[in-house]
Parts: sequence; structure tokens; C-alpha cells
Amino acid sequence: MEAVVKELNTTLLNPEWERIELLCHYLVASRRGRELDAEHLDRLRSLQDQVQHLRQGAGAWAAKGIAGLSPLEFDMLACVVAPEMEPRIGWLYQDLQPGISKPYPSPALIQGLTALQPHQAGELYEALDRGGLLRQMRLIRMHGSGSYDAIQPELGLAMRLMGRPVVQAPPPGSVPVDMQAGWDDLVLPADRIAMLHEYLLWIQHHDVVVGQWGGARVGGPVALFAGASGTGKTFAASVIAGALGWQLFRVDLGRLVSKYIGETEQNLNNLFEAAHGRPMVLQFDEADSLFGKRGEVKEARDRYANMGVSHLLACIESHHGPCILTSNLRTHLDPAFARRFQMVIEFPRPDAAARTQLWRRLLPPGAPRLDEVDLELLGRSVTLSGGHIRNAALHAAYLAAGENKPISLRHIALAVWRELAKDGREISTLDMGALAGYLPGELKC
Ligand SMILES: Nc1ncnc2c1ncn2[C@@H]1O[C@H](COP(=O)(O)OP(=O)(O)OP(=O)(O)O)[C@@H](O)[C@H]1O
Ligand SMILES: [Mg+2]
Repeated sequence: MEAVVKELNTTLLNPEWERIELLCHYLVASRRGRELDAEHLDRLRSLQDQVQHLRQGAGAWAAKGIAGLSPLEFDMLACVVAPEMEPRIGWLYQDLQPGISKPYPSPALIQGLTALQPHQAGELYEALDRGGLLRQMRLIRMHGSGSYDAIQPELGLAMRLMGRPVVQAPPPGSVPVDMQAGWDDLVLPADRIAMLHEYLLWIQHHDVVVGQWGGARVGGPVALFAGASGTGKTFAASVIAGALGWQLFRVDLGRLVSKYIGETEQNLNNLFEAAHGRPMVLQFDEADSLFGKRGEVKEARDRYANMGVSHLLACIESHHGPCILTSNLRTHLDPAFARRFQMVIEFPRPDAAARTQLWRRLLPPGAPRLDEVDLELLGRSVTLSGGHIRNAALHAAYLAAGENKPISLRHIALAVWRELAKDGREISTLDMGALAGYLPGELKC
């Protein structure tokens, strides 16, 4: 059933792309002084009707959160996003505007496709203006304001229209991270959330700052997320990727850093070559293992790691795409390296209030629970990371499900105990705060 719904989602807007394709053929024919045959003209008329429906109040576009555009703005948006939905259209564009290397339409081409009269062209340029809805709603990106500058859809728009992320092969040495996380799920101090939004600006407004304002072209953007295990670094990287509609890939540095000199460099080259120009976020875990202070060469392994550092620096600087490095030990990072990050964000261990919020978000929302499960008490009682709370909340839910009962403090206490015991250190009821009283008798010592 879900597959059917997804299929419908991706095909609902198809008349838009078919219409653009026919308009391209129409333009080719008219440039050659020919007419489209009657059958194609009939099809075009039928598609015009269908497209009108899709654009109405509760139509397929509105279902994707896109509404209120004028007919011309809808036409422009369809022209701009069509080559990502239907690659054939990109090739047709390249035939129609041979001087433009990108498979996206210029204003001049859109004018031709929509058969605008010269006196109507002003409306088209107004719609492309910064204050226009297409720009304000973050639907299109401009690389220049000339008649022959290609207009691109905003990053992630095609994926949003398809209702799913595009499946991409992982670049060699990386694995996809499939975490569905949104801003509302993230529990962090407000200034850290603000910093994550600022990092996103580096990605989303690169065209404006570098392309239009002449800002310096630097690699990345590269961010360092530093913080203890389970504080939400990977989770935040998933939020960034989700906000862009891009896939997050985690790079296993252990696999990349080969003990053979030279292979590490080759592995890094392969990775960045495969990632080049693709909509993806790269996350390098345990970056500190690779970025130990330069000069501190104690063992041969460190030396290889240092060689890896300089090459990785070069790769990151020339790679244009978001790279997020994560580290548990910020102090071990080479300061020369830290200067190359556009953002350094520290992930704190959650305080009592944050832990309460985490419990609220991580206990399964549909699970029945007894009134005694006071989330503030849980937040106050035990010092746990977000990762611990996620595991304990799920374990408590399974304990309750196993007994066919609502979640109680008894379930939560046992789950928290199990979670603390995982670290392998000696634990006592003192670590359990107010939850200690709910532990089974044999554990109370
Ligand atoms: N700040 C947070 N906000 C919301 N959820 C969190 C947060 N921190 C942790 N979590 C929850 O804990 C889980 C584990 O966190 P995550 O994998 O992001 O930790 P990490 O910092 O990447 O740890 P590691 O250094 O071990 O990789 C997340 O999937 C999420 O459910
Ligand atoms: Mg992680």
C-alpha cells in the first residue's frame, strides 16, 4: 500500500513534465519553420487542462507545499525543475541553448517555451527578482541575472516533489545514514541550533555569496561537531541533510586510512571524486583519530595518519559540498586544522531540563504509560546522554510490551540500570537517584 502511495506521489505531477517536453519539441519545430502535427497539438491541449488542475487550490502542487504562484510562475518553476524530474528534458534544453553548459533553462529559453510576447517579458524578469515568490519560497536559484544565465531549482526541490530522497550509491568508503530527524526533534541549547542554521546558510546561499557577490570560494563548508558520545552529533548531521533533502553518508575513517602509504590518498581521492557535484552530506566520524596534532609522531601509524591529514585537508578544501567532522575530544585537534572549519559546534551533555525533553521525545509516542511516569523526575534523576535515553526509553517500552502493561517507573528504572551497566563500570543505586526505589529487589544493593 505504501509503495502504491509513493508511486502516486511521484507520478501525480507527470503531466507538467510531459507538457514541458512537448513545448520543447514545439519550439524546435517552430525554429525550423515547421508545425507540430495535429496529434501532438491535441495532446498539448489536454496536458494544459490537466496542468491547470494540478495547480489549483488543493491540487498536486499544493500537496507538496507549493501554492499561490501565478500561471507564469508555475510555468517557470515547471521549466526549471523538469530536467531533474525527466533527464530527457535536460538534453532537449542543451540542444535548444547550445551555448549554455548546464541542462537548466535560461530566462530566454523560458520565454520561448512559454511563448511570451516581448512586452510580457517584464513579468518574467519580475518573477525572477529576489522579492518574487519563486525566490522567497526558495524554489529556484540563480547563477546570474542575464537572459542567458541558467536558472536552477533550489537544492532538494526535486526530491521534495518526488516525495523521497533519490537513492544514490554510497561513495567508496562510506555508508548511508538513514535517520529521519527534523529540527523539532533536536534537543540542544538555542545558540547551537542557531549555529546549525548558520551552517545551512553556507550551503543554501553559496550561489548568492560566491556566484553573485563575489565572495571567496572556499571548500566545504566544513563543520566540526565536537562532543561526547550520544550527544546528538550524527542526529544533528541528519537534520542538516534532511533540511536539504540530501542523503547523509558516514565515512568510516578506519576503512579509509590504510596502513599502506599511498593507499590512504587513493582512497580519499576515490571518495571525493564519487561525491563531487552530488547532493550529499559527508560525515567523517572520529575525526580526532586522524587529526592528531601534527608533529606528534610517536608511532608509524601516527605518521601515516599525519600524511592522511594533509591530503584530507587538500581534498576537503577542493571539495564543494558539506563535510561534517565529528570528534569526541576537541582538545586533541590541531589548531591549524580548526581554522579551516567554517563552523565548530560543541555538543554539550544534556542538563536536567534537556534530559526531560529527550525523555518526552524518545519514549514511543503511542505507548501507554502510568501517570507516575513524571518526565521531570526522570530528567532530574539520572545523568544520561541522549543516546542513553533513547536506548533506555525503548528498552522500557519493550519491558512493558512484554508484560502487556503500560510503561511504569519500574520498567524505566530497570531499563536505565541496564543502560548504565553497558558501560562496564561499577554502578550502584546511588547513580539512579529517585529511580533507585523502583529497581527490582535483587539489584538494590
Ligand atoms: N541532542 C539530541 N537531541 C535529540 N536526540 C538526541 C540528542 N542526542 C542524542 N539523541 C538521541 O540519541 C541517539 C544517538 O545520538 P547520536 O548518534 O547523534 O550521537 P553521537 O553524538 O553521534 O554519538 P557518537 O559520538 O557515539 O557517534 C540519536 O539517534 C537520538 O535519538
Ligand atoms: Mg555519531
